[in-house]
Amino acid sequence: MRIDILTLFPEMFQKVFDESIIKRAIQLGKVDIHIVNIRDYTKDVHNKVDDTVYGGGAGMVLMCQPIFDCIRDIKTENSKVIMLTPSGKVYQQKMAYDLSLEKHLILLCGHYEGFDERIKSICDMELSIGDYVLTGGEIPAMVIVDSITRLLPGVITDESHINDSFHNQLLDYPVYTKPRVFEGMEVPEVLLSGDHKKIEEYREKEMHRLTQENRPDLLDK
Ligand SMILES: C[S@@+](CC[C@H](N)C(=O)[O-])C[C@H]1O[C@@H](n2cnc3c(N)ncnc32)[C@H](O)[C@@H]1O
Repeated sequence: MRIDILTLFPEMFQKVFDESIIKRAIQLGKVDIHIVNIRDYTKDVHNKVDDTVYGGGAGMVLMCQPIFDCIRDIKTENSKVIMLTPSGKVYQQKMAYDLSLEKHLILLCGHYEGFDERIKSICDMELSIGDYVLTGGEIPAMVIVDSITRLLPGVITDESHINDSFHNQLLDYPVYTKPRVFEGMEVPEVLLSGDHKKIEEYREKEMHRLTQENRPDLLDK
């Protein structure tokens, strides 16, 4: 998969993509990530990419021209262009699965007061990573790249993400490692029993208990 990230702050990404599983996925050729500076596409003599709001109001708005030119330069028939915006649909694990099947994603990061509304016309979808407002789309882009990259075949084992939270509308079961007792807290006996059927039953029960406690909304789905 190829991912292009369109941003005004390209340097924010280097460290994040140069660690751990994403770094390995890049090295293995599972994902090819390109960071594109939107400013490189401005035709403004002063390199401007934003301007004041028509009708009045605080802040600066990202202008159409550099973003249209940038997307048109990069987009192919296999591309899905995603605008990152708090007013988009809320990103969920199911979307990560769907997007991990795409050939080419273009993630458009906003900043300041956001985008000129007409930029939506060149995007295929608008995504928000949650009901809060960040200063820019760079962290949302990192969230989306991370969540998709780990789902690409051969990046982590299938078993790892099949057991993850949200896979079947339930939260993951609790896990423990050595030692058996830490500061008086014991690993549940059933996990030491070696009885796989009982362990499975226990985990299933815990998944429902945790989901009921923390995310009852998932059970309604
Ligand atoms: C300060 S925000 C603009 C907020 C905009 N005025 C609004 O209220 O919808 C600047 C940029 O950060 C990004 N951003 C902020 N919060 C986000 C979120 N929850 N999900 C996705 N992108 C977000 C978007 O790219 C947005 O254009």
